[in-house]
Amino acid sequence: MSLDERIEKQINELSKFTATPGKGTTRLTYSKEDLLTRNYMKDKMQEYGLTVREDGLGNIFGKLEGTVKDAPSVLIGSHFDSVPNGGAYDGPAGVIVALEVAALFAKNQLIPKYPLEIVALIEEEGSRFGGGLMGSRGMVGSLSEDDFKRLKDKDGITTVEAMAEIGLDGFLPKKREPMTIKSFLELHIEQGPILEEKDIPIGVVEAIVGLTQLEVTIEGKAGHAGTTPMDRRTDALVTAAQIISRLPGLAIEEGEGTVITTGRLHVFPNGANVIPDKVVFSVDIRSGKEENMNHVISKVRELIDSYQNQGFQTTAEQLLYMPPKILNEEISALMKEISADLGIPYCSINSGAGHDAMVFSDVTDVGMLFVPSKAGLSHCPEEWSDARHLANGVQIFYELAKRLTEVDMG
Ligand code: GLV
Ligand code: MN
Ligand code: MN
Repeated sequence: MSLDERIEKQINELSKFTATPGKGTTRLTYSKEDLLTRNYMKDKMQEYGLTVREDGLGNIFGKLEGTVKDAPSVLIGSHFDSVPNGGAYDGPAGVIVALEVAALFAKNQLIPKYPLEIVALIEEEGSRFGGGLMGSRGMVGSLSEDDFKRLKDKDGITTVEAMAEIGLDGFLPKKREPMTIKSFLELHIEQGPILEEKDIPIGVVEAIVGLTQLEVTIEGKAGHAGTTPMDRRTDALVTAAQIISRLPGLAIEEGEGTVITTGRLHVFPNGANVIPDKVVFSVDIRSGKEENMNHVISKVRELIDSYQNQGFQTTAEQLLYMPPKILNEEISALMKEISADLGIPYCSINSGAGHDAMVFSDVTDVGMLFVPSKAGLSHCPEEWSDARHLANGVQIFYELAKRLTEVDMG
């Protein structure tokens, strides 16, 4: 089987681990589908001669030891959770590419000086516990042990309880000392239209946008939908709707590519004939410039606060704040040199999506590659990337990993 075929087969196999068959990939962290994917990845790691371990977050590591004692590892990987009804490529494509790099090391019996570690990270999307980038933030310590344990899903199940349900140990160490990491490499689908439109198979990511996520709660008063006169209502949903309808204008006014989205909304008690007394919704704000991001955050807060004196209680909790990140220039230059040597056309690109790579860039040298996304679509069942493009990523990362782990080429 060719490399492309192997990659395609694995994407198809993983896409079966979904809670919504026929309606895209829904793989929430610590769910049954997580467990099936996890077992698949651990088996593959073992097949490629890697030593498998999980940390106290449920991140998976497959390690090929190096010859230098206690040397830091070159990490390659991505996440394996998904958004609700998402695609088969966002995350797993990067893990499969990393596994195929390890397979080439095994096939060619390469012995590195520095260890090579394949990583499969949890909860990048934040679909179950909110915030996102949880596997990497826990690893670098920007999400503390206590904050991790406090997180609950929408049904009130805590992270540690959910881990125990699939047999994971939430009490294992989470934080990893930066001195144990030499570099982090991630391949991801672009999730936008640029590479396809330019007909270029590889994007070398130079920078990742800043992003923040707020969880807004509006509390009013419940009441009977038929008997409460219109002028005596404190309807939390009507207020939430008024706020949400004004958000796009704030991003447009800010300009410079600033974007804002409300994608999740919970209405309580959620009965057709009950005036809602509570609404909780997400606000996701992104921009290439931190000052734009901060400006919009304060305008959103002002807007929400303005309903305080109208009988509503409001809060806006910041679940995530990540400033824009520039990735390692030397690794980017190396990836361009290797692509040119392999005859693979490339261009520089910036990422509008958040990635674990941005978290690791605070503690280590990070390199990131994009491959084209069909019609620029992502976070939907139609998401698709060509396995041949993913195979290019394997070739580039294989050459790069050989250099970074200082394989003895005899
Ligand atoms: C992850 O896909 C994100 O950008 O939110
Ligand atoms: Mn995503
Ligand atoms: Mn992703």
